Order: sequence, then C-alpha cells, then structure tokens
Amino acid sequence: MGKETNPFVVKGAIESQYFCDRVTETERIVKSITNGNNLVLISPRRMGKTGLIHHSFEQAEFKDYYTFFIDILHTSSLREFTFVFGKEVFDKLLSKGKKMKKMLLKTMASLQGSFGVDPMTGNPTFGLQLGDIVSVDYTLEEIFQCLEQADRPCIVAIDEFQQITNYPEKNVEALLRSYIQRTKNISFIFAGSERHIMQEMFQTASRPFYYSAEMMELNAIKKEIYVPFIVQKFEEKHRKIDINLVENVYDLFDGHTFYVQKTFNESFLNTSKRGACTKKIVLESIETLLEIYSPFFKVTLSEMPEKQKELFYSIALDGSAEAITSAEFIDRHSLSSASSVQSAAKRLLERDLITKEGKEYRLTDRLFSLWIKRLHGRAYLRL
Ligand SMILES: Nc1ncnc2c1ncn2[C@@H]1O[C@H](COP(=O)(O)OP(=O)(O)OP(=O)(O)O)[C@@H](O)[C@H]1O
Ligand SMILES: [Mg+2]
Repeated sequence: MGKETNPFVVKGAIESQYFCDRVTETERIVKSITNGNNLVLISPRRMGKTGLIHHSFEQAEFKDYYTFFIDILHTSSLREFTFVFGKEVFDKLLSKGKKMKKMLLKTMASLQGSFGVDPMTGNPTFGLQLGDIVSVDYTLEEIFQCLEQADRPCIVAIDEFQQITNYPEKNVEALLRSYIQRTKNISFIFAGSERHIMQEMFQTASRPFYYSAEMMELNAIKKEIYVPFIVQKFEEKHRKIDINLVENVYDLFDGHTFYVQKTFNESFLNTSKRGACTKKIVLESIETLLEIYSPFFKVTLSEMPEKQKELFYSIALDGSAEAITSAEFIDRHSLSSASSVQSAAKRLLERDLITKEGKEYRLTDRLFSLWIKRLHGRAYLRL
C-alpha cells in the first residue's frame, strides 16, 4: 500500500483537489491579463501569492499562452535578474517546437556561446551561466524580443519584485519599465510581500512604474470556505476533526494560509486512519511549529534595535494594540517616550514586522506573536 498523501500541502505545487478556494482572485487575474493589463499582487508573506499565480496559470483561459515564472528574492543585481529571467524564457521556449528554437537561436545573439547540442538526443541545449551575461542591456533587450516574437501571448510573473529596489545598478526601475512599456505580446504579474516598497513603487507619481499595473491585495482565505475545506480533507482521508477546533486554529492565526496549512499538515501526520484529530494533537502540532521556527525568530530579534524590540514585544503581548503612543500603553509597557515609540513603529512597519489594520497594530507573523508570549511566560496557546 502506498503512503497516504497529506492533503495539506506546504511546499511545491498544489494539486487542484488540495488547493482551497481563491476563485474570485483567480478570475480577477484571468480577467486582467486577458484584457491586456499588468497586475501587481501584494500580500503578507506566505499568504499564497505563489500558489495563486501557479493556479491561475493552469486555467483554461491561459491554455494558449506561454507562462513564465521567476522568483527573484535571491538576486542582488540587474545582471542576476537578467540571468534568471533569461534562463526561464529560454528553457521554456526551447521546448516549444522548432519554430521557437529557431527564433531563439537567431534573436539571442549575445548568448550564442551558451547554446549547444545534446550529443545523445541531438536536441539543442542552453547552458547559460551568470558569467555569460556580458552586456545586461543587450541581453535584456534580446529576452524581450524573444517574448515579443513568440507565437503565443506571454505572461511573465515576477515574484518578490520589490527586490529590484536593492540592485546596485542605476535606474533599474526606469530601464525595466521602458522595456515593459514597449511590449505588446507580454503581460506581467508583479508579486511582492513587502507592501510598503511595492506600494511606493507603483503608486508614487515620480516612480517609473507609477500606474503601470492594476493593484490586487491577497488576503486570508475566508473562514466560511477554509474551515469546511479542512474538515472535508480530513474526512476524505477517513479521519475526523471537530469543526470548532478548526475554527479556533483559523482564528489563532487569523487564517494565515501558511500556518493553517502547517498546523493541519502536522496534525494530519499525527492522526491515525479512521481516528480523530483531537485538540491534544493540534496543540502538539503547534508546539512543534514553535520549535521549528524558534531559530528564525531568534535571529530576527537579535538583529532588532532595542527600542524596536521593546515595542515589538509590547504589541505581541497585547495581541493587538491601538493607542501605542498613549501614556497608558507607554507606562504599562515601560517604554521611554511617545516619539521613540513612533519612530520604532515606523521602522517596524517599513520592515513589515508589524502591520497596521485600521487603527490596530499587530505582529505580521502570528506564530511569532505566540512565540513571544511563550518567551515571556504568558498564556500563549488556547484553542
Ligand atoms: N489556496 C491554497 N490552498 C491550500 N494551500 C495553499 C493555498 N495557497 C497557498 N497555500 C499554501 O500556503 C503556503 C504559502 O503559500 P505561497 O508560498 O503561495 O505564499 P506566498 O505568499 O507566495 O509566500 P512567500 O511570501 O514566502 O513567497 C504554502 O505552503 C502553500 O502550499
Ligand atoms: Mg511566494
């Protein structure tokens, strides 16, 4: 008997039966792109941007498109961007038949040296390395030309797009924008988790990308949809779980996709077939998560200036906090002054470590919140 599939996928591609909802979001992406627009997709980390993009690419409406996906989080220069982008475009187009192969070989003049032939199969190969990119400008130009000449419309999704603001080269935004503006055959999805940087890039009048794309924010999957989905997945695999327990986990993490998925992935593992997933199992699973992420939280805290850390702890211990510059809040948490709280809050917001929704401040990372409560010996886990 084969190993049972865990229905709560936490990495890699998600099969459609395990993919929850995102129906309206998918429709919106399909509509924007088929109407010839570009799209900005913003959400906190691990809410499901990447999953949503891949899911959208699977839609029937995109059957006749070539889709490309690059994650640029690890890139640190425009040259590296060009490398990652180029590699994705060539690898994909090279497999799309003779016509595309011929077009690529002709258009990519600056990278001729990277083309070869597989001696076993006789198929062309493309062995691009970062060092092969001598002129970023030429190569970028050629990549865009390839996409323009492709025999189908193209969609290019660039994940963690805010990373381009860290590149050392001058005028990166203006340069990319000028290419993107000129294209007719390509639509773009710019995804990013650093809301501030993304919003500034696309909503500041003086910035090159101003108004170049529709904005879309990805929020948590709705409770009425996510909770029954989870119960159903347990049942499909011959296990039981109390719907109230699932609701409590959803609330604990405010529906944050990654932690909900992680909790039930772990809980499922610990529930035997034809058995019930109990509160005890779920609590133990969350404890496991706290242990797993402990080193990451410690690193973040070790790098955080003290004033910011004091405020960070105060908000975490309160769960959510409104009047953070009030005398009451400052006294109760022994903070130094309203002005220092203000500047600490500004930095924490910029780094997306805290989020402001309406008037309320919270830690962006809900598990981090629990972990800090635990660190301070507070009650941190009630379901
Ligand atoms: N609709 C969904 N149904 C079930 N699981 C999902 C769904 N969307 C995302 N996930 C899961 O949630 C987690 C986070 O999703 P994803 O990686 O897509 O988020 P992200 O916003 O791209 O994160 P990052 O900020 O790290 O790039 C993953 O483990 C993924 O498997
Ligand atoms: Mg992602």
